Amino acid sequence: MKTLKKWLMSISVVFIALMLTGCSAFDSITGGKRIIRIAHAQSEEHPEHIGMLEFKKIIEEKLGDKYEVEIFPNELLGSAQKAIELTQTGAIDFVIAGTANVETFAKAYEIFSMPYLFTSTDAYHEVMNDVDYMQQLYNSTDESGFRVLTWFDAGTRSFYSTKPIRTPEDLKGQKIRVQQSPASVNMVKAFGAAASPMSFGEVYTAIQQGVINGAENNELALTNNKHGEVAKYYSYNQHQMVPDVLLGNTKFLDSLSDEEYDIFMEAAQKATEVEMEEWGKAVEEAKDYAKNEQGVEFIEVDVQAFKDKVVGVQKEMLEDNPDITEMYEHIQEVNKKYEEKEQ
Ligand code: GCU
Repeated sequence: MKTLKKWLMSISVVFIALMLTGCSAFDSITGGKRIIRIAHAQSEEHPEHIGMLEFKKIIEEKLGDKYEVEIFPNELLGSAQKAIELTQTGAIDFVIAGTANVETFAKAYEIFSMPYLFTSTDAYHEVMNDVDYMQQLYNSTDESGFRVLTWFDAGTRSFYSTKPIRTPEDLKGQKIRVQQSPASVNMVKAFGAAASPMSFGEVYTAIQQGVINGAENNELALTNNKHGEVAKYYSYNQHQMVPDVLLGNTKFLDSLSDEEYDIFMEAAQKATEVEMEEWGKAVEEAKDYAKNEQGVEFIEVDVQAFKDKVVGVQKEMLEDNPDITEMYEHIQEVNKKYEEKEQ
């Protein structure tokens, strides 16, 4: 059944991709309206999808005579990497992807893969919600054919596995899926596990078939992506806060009038607000469902022991990548502000 579903899914992905790449400009106009296509990797219950419904609503309310918005969830148009390529070429207009997927286009995005970069959620939110500060980073991929409009909270990432991880030593000998990001590969190796980079959509089957022992993500991966069916131990070591970002095709964005551009930006901001409101609720619901319906054990660990393992990774990243220095220092200041408040 699963194989048939997978086969049908690949056929539809190929079909949609062919349709989009073959004749994008022509097919994008239907009934006199320009169709705006948006891809993302999450289910229709996920806060990001709910945020994008708000985006659609605003665009269609304010510019509905000209634009119609279509959202493709569940990696329907392929993995994050593939969907970024479709956005680059203009086959589609927008994609939501984790910043780990953007590292290959702009090395400054590696900053978010640094383990234990933010020391509190408050600091993380303050940095990411500073629209003016983030602008320089967001525009840095213009030459690659896309620009970031806004960010989405994707929570805190921790390890989960078929075998319990109570101390960093338990990671030894485990094969852990990471996002396709060199910085995340290095981090998992420093924790003592073997890193296996693969796209998000492949993780469930890889755990189920024993190709990997586990992965690392926020709690929603257990429920929205069903990983809690196959991995029963989630350890709160909290190594990263990696945001998702909404990328738009640069040519399309530049083709908009000033007034239209402002409306797209306003819709993107609103989508973030809605997503953030939904996020906290969604995490609580995911924890409850994973624990009570999927039988996942949530393990509290000594976070400091995990932090100690990756101090070298932070240093190495700062030495190797000058593009992250300025933002690293900025984040340290914001971290400090909240740490002082705590005392
Ligand atoms: C989270 C995140 C996605 C990312 C995924 C992953 O779900 O929101 O953008 O792709 O993790 O680990 O690949």
